[in-house]
Amino acid sequence: MNLEENLNKILILDYGSQFTQLIARRIRELGVYSIIISHKKIKITDIISKNIDGIILSGGPLSVYQKNKVKFDKKILNLGIPILGICFGHQIISKELGGKVKQAKHREFGLAKLKRLKKSKLTNNFFKRNGLNKVWMSHADEVTKLANGFKVIAKTTTSKFSIVENLSKKFFGIQFHPEVTHTENGKILLKNFVFSICKMKKNWSVKNQKQILIKEVKTNLGNAKVICALSGGVDSSVVAKLIHNAIGNQLTCIFVNTGLLRKNEEIQVLKTFKKKFKINLIYVDAKKLFLNKLKNIKDPEKKRKIIGNLFIKIFEKYAKKIKNVKFLAQGTLYPDLIESKSVTGSQTSKIKSHHNVGGLPKKMNLKLIEPLKFLFKDEVRKLGLELKLAKEIVLRHPFPGPGLAIRMPGKINEKKIKILKEADEIFINSLREYNLYDKIWQAYAALLPVKTVGVMGDNRTYEYMCLLRAITSEDGMTADFFNFSKDFKQLVSNKIINNIKGINRVVYDITSKPPSTIELE
Ligand code: XMP
Repeated sequence: MNLEENLNKILILDYGSQFTQLIARRIRELGVYSIIISHKKIKITDIISKNIDGIILSGGPLSVYQKNKVKFDKKILNLGIPILGICFGHQIISKELGGKVKQAKHREFGLAKLKRLKKSKLTNNFFKRNGLNKVWMSHADEVTKLANGFKVIAKTTTSKFSIVENLSKKFFGIQFHPEVTHTENGKILLKNFVFSICKMKKNWSVKNQKQILIKEVKTNLGNAKVICALSGGVDSSVVAKLIHNAIGNQLTCIFVNTGLLRKNEEIQVLKTFKKKFKINLIYVDAKKLFLNKLKNIKDPEKKRKIIGNLFIKIFEKYAKKIKNVKFLAQGTLYPDLIESKSVTGSQTSKIKSHHNVGGLPKKMNLKLIEPLKFLFKDEVRKLGLELKLAKEIVLRHPFPGPGLAIRMPGKINEKKIKILKEADEIFINSLREYNLYDKIWQAYAALLPVKTVGVMGDNRTYEYMCLLRAITSEDGMTADFFNFSKDFKQLVSNKIINNIKGINRVVYDITSKPPSTIELE
C-alpha cells in the first residue's frame, strides 16, 4: 500500500491561502487522509488516478480576474466529484459557473455573524439554536451574482452569499474560513462535507499509519542498508524507530555529539536507541573538533555555516565506513514538502537545511528515504508514541541544529558551554517539576556576552548574565512570551544563581515574534 496513491482522500487544491495546511490537518483530524497540491501543478489525470473522493479549493490572495495567475481547469467540474470552495475557492467556482465576483464595498476581516436562511446537508448540526454563528472572514472580493443552479444557505450583513450550494452537482461555496478555530462549529461543516457529501470512510488513524508506513519502508528498501543522522530530536527519532521496526539491523544511525547539545543529551540518546531499542548506532564524540573550529567566531551566520559543514563532513566520514549503504533516511515532514507559502511551509524547510544533511545523497550516491514526508508534526508526535518512544522524546521542545552555539552570542569556549548547559537544565527541570513544560512551545536559557556587577555574600562579583526565554506558539512562525508567576521566576533565578558559578544575573525575555525571533542568533 502506498499512501500517496492508494488511500481514498480529499484533495485540497491550494491557491496560496495561509490556512491551506490547516484545512488538510482538520480533514486528517476527522480520520480521513488529505493531500495538498498547488493549483499551478494539478493535472486532471492526477485527480482521476489518485482515488480522490472530494475536492476543497482553498482561499488565497488572488483575484479571480487575474487570468494569467489563476489556473483553473474547467474539466474539474465534470468529474462528478463533490467540490467545496472556501473564500477564493468559493469565488472561483461561482465565476466559472456563470456567477459574478467583484471587489467588495466592505472588505471583511475578522469575526462576522452568519445567519441561516435555508437547511442544507452541509450545515447539518452546524448552526446554533438561534441560527446565528460567529464566523471568521478574510476577503476583499465577494460573489455578487449567484452561479446557475445554486441556492443561498446563509448570509452575513455584508456578504449575501456566505454559504451557497448546488446539491445535485454536490458543489458548495463558503465565503468564511471553517478551518480556523474562531469560526464556531467550523469543523462540523468540514465533517458534513467529508462524510455526508463525499461519503468517505475513516482511513487515517495512527495505528494504520504505522502499519502502512512500515510496510512501505519494507517494500521500498528490500534488503538494502540505510543510514540515518540521529539528533535526539523528534523527527529523526521517529524516523529511526520506524525504519528499525521495519528492517531492523539493515539500519545504522550516526549520532554526532557536537558538544553543543543539552546537558546529558548524548547519554539519553545512547540509552534509548542503543541500550533499549538495540539499534545499530555509531556514536561520534566530536566535541573538541567543533570547539576548535568555533574558536574566536562571533558572527552567528558563520557559526551556523561552520557547524553545518563540519557536521556533514563527520557524518560522511562515518557513513563511508558502513559497506553497501544505498539509502539515507531523513525526517522531512509534509510542511517541508509543500511549496506554497503557507502556515509553516517555506520557512521550515529553510530552517531545517542544516539537519537535512544537504548535498550528501548526491555526493555519496545515496537514495533518499523520507517516510514521514506526508505527515504533519502533530501526526509525527502521535506516531512516535505509537512506536513506543518515550513522551520525553516525542513531546520535547524544538532544538536548533547548531545547538547551544546560537544561544551564546559572541565567542564560545568550554567554560561558557558548561555554564549554559547547567542553567538550561535548571530551567527545564523546573518547568517539568511545576507542570509547565507541556504548556510551552519552546523554552531555553541563553548566555549573554555581558558581565555585570553583583554582590554575593558581601563580595563583589563580576559575572555573566543569563537570559531565559519561554514562548507559546502554534507552529514557531509567530510566538508570544509565556507569563510565569513571580514566584516561579524568582525560584528559577535563585536556583540558577545559587548553583552556577559564573552567572550573577537572570533576565526574562518578554518580546514576541515578530518583531523578535525565538532564538537569539
Ligand atoms: P527562529 O530563530 O526563526 O527559530 O525564531 C524558530 C525555530 O527554529 C529553530 N531553529 C533551528 N532549527 N536549525 C534547526 O534545526 C537551525 O539552524 C535553527 N535555527 C532556529 C529554533 O529552535 C526555533 O524552534
